[in-house]
Amino acid sequence: MKITKYEPQYEEGWLRCRVLAYLHTSMYEDVKTSKPMFDGRPTIELLAIEDDMVVGILDMVLDTEEIQTSFLAKGLGAFLSVIAVHPDYQGRGIGQQLYDKALEELKQTPIEFIELYTRGDESANNFYRKLGFELLLETYDVFGVEHRLGKDVVIKGIQDKKLLVETEDGQPCTHTLDRLGCRRQPKAETRVL
Ligand SMILES: CC(C)(COP(=O)(O)OP(=O)(O)OC[C@H]1O[C@@H](n2cnc3c(N)ncnc32)[C@H](O)[C@@H]1OP(=O)(O)O)[C@@H](O)C(=O)NCCC(=O)NCCS
Repeated sequence: MKITKYEPQYEEGWLRCRVLAYLHTSMYEDVKTSKPMFDGRPTIELLAIEDDMVVGILDMVLDTEEIQTSFLAKGLGAFLSVIAVHPDYQGRGIGQQLYDKALEELKQTPIEFIELYTRGDESANNFYRKLGFELLLETYDVFGVEHRLGKDVVIKGIQDKKLLVETEDGQPCTHTLDRLGCRRQPKAETRVL
């Protein structure tokens, strides 16, 4: 296994590694179909490669004097946008090696802190704690329709294998139930470490 800088020829491998790593986590729905390129901002983009296959990925975006994105700390930060290891290769120190390599590269920069967002996945959060991250803030993701467009709905029956849904004031509801159902999902926990 080797850790190298990201090369565009590995984009498909990057995407597959990410989607598989997230598959059984609370981030499962966060699927990328092309690799984020961060608008020319300074980055650290690393790959773990074994037998020419991408088995681990890490992306960090670095603040500059002009662009500082953290709202939790003052100064120049790096945002750990993704660190993920292919499920068949987890628990072998690859995540740690990716992170160590990024830390080494950060030594050449004026970056003062690293920030990341995570959810309630204990294995990932244990990993982040092991790396030295501390929980600074807990917040909630609320899934919903656009502000003021949400209305309560009444299920009237079934027609053509679809639920007949009306808004509470008797108007036909053209949204899919799936979308309306989003309003009623439990709040998902988001953590900022
Ligand atoms: C989190 C992740 C990047 C860790 O990579 P990894 O290569 O499996 O981790 P490592 O083998 O380098 O482990 C380093 C340390 O992290 C901790 N750790 C890693 N996996 C863990 C797990 N499943 N449970 C508890 N602790 C874990 C351990 O302390 C471990 O050190 P140790 O082996 O000395 O005990 C990887 O498991 C992953 O991609 N998971 C899916 C992504 C994810 O859950 N994302 C959530 C959204 S942020």
